[in-house]
Amino acid sequence: MGLFDGKVAIVTGAGRGIGRSHALLLASEGAAVVVNDLGGSSSGDGADATPAQQVVDEIAAKGGRAIANYDSVSSWTGAEAMVQQAVDEFGGLDVLINNAGILRDKMSFNMDEAEWDQVIDVHLKGHFATSRFAASYWRTKSKETGGPVNGKIVNTASESGLYGNAGQANYAAAKAGIASMTIVMARELERIGVRVNAICPVARTRLTETVAGDFMNAKEGEFDKFAPENISAVVCWLASDLAEGVTGQVVKVMGGQVQLIRGWRPVTEATDDKPWTIASIDQAASSTLFAATDKGTPPFMPNVGDN
Ligand SMILES: NC(=O)c1ccc[n+]([C@@H]2O[C@H](COP(=O)([O-])OP(=O)(O)OC[C@H]3O[C@@H](n4cnc5c(N)ncnc54)[C@H](O)[C@@H]3O)[C@@H](O)[C@H]2O)c1
Repeated sequence: MGLFDGKVAIVTGAGRGIGRSHALLLASEGAAVVVNDLGGSSSGDGADATPAQQVVDEIAAKGGRAIANYDSVSSWTGAEAMVQQAVDEFGGLDVLINNAGILRDKMSFNMDEAEWDQVIDVHLKGHFATSRFAASYWRTKSKETGGPVNGKIVNTASESGLYGNAGQANYAAAKAGIASMTIVMARELERIGVRVNAICPVARTRLTETVAGDFMNAKEGEFDKFAPENISAVVCWLASDLAEGVTGQVVKVMGGQVQLIRGWRPVTEATDDKPWTIASIDQAASSTLFAATDKGTPPFMPNVGDN
């Protein structure tokens, strides 16, 4: 008996890295998986059917069920076709894991239009397009049955988007947008029984191997903390009925550490019963707003409990 017996899942960007291990774990737990991957370079150039097909073959060799999809997640029609493919080939859709991603890092003053557009397209539009068509599929189903549909979406944000990594204005903006969209769609789809959550993973893949050096390599005597496989158990838990009631949440996963992350909440407050003047806001800034908190950029990786 698998946790996902009889379920149908789409995993985007599942040909390599973290997405590949999500697809393998879902399939080993009984899900029929649509393995989506465009197969381009880490900066999004080119296309290749091989990565998605290899994962499909790997799943089939272990007795699981999977089909490949080679569309770009940033294609509106491609996203619609991906959802339709799950329905046509496997009879429905229960789980959508949005994971596909690329990097085109540059400092803002050097970034060109294509570097901005491509990263926003793949991550932000690429998460929304698939979610939009999955949501409309589930809404129609809910109207037909008159009840909840028990669907799940797990998105892939990043600490870069939540805490603001220099050199990644495009990527961080997209990932912050994904975290925000997770909450919006969780609110919208709650009434039809669909849960929407996001993870912030940290793992050794081609996206991190050049920046992390040997920091992420396995250390003797320890479990392999940065193996992409470490991320998938948390994703599968969020995508399963075990996580009933969990929705609109963002969870970081790094090695053996899991954090529930929440942000953008009021930290301090000043009020007045008349319009602000420059002088009165200056006074409130020093007496209240910034009196007991930093004025500079917040820490990149805050500790639990930090403001
Ligand atoms: N590795 C980390 O530490 C880390 C940290 C934070 C967030 N993430 C996020 O995790 C996700 C997976 O990244 P990874 O580290 O496994 O990288 P990866 O490069 O190993 O895998 C990403 C996969 O997405 C595919 N892809 C790219 N653009 C696509 C498109 N338009 N349509 C379909 N598929 C496409 C690629 O071909 C690739 O196989 C990304 O969203 C990434 O931003 C990773």
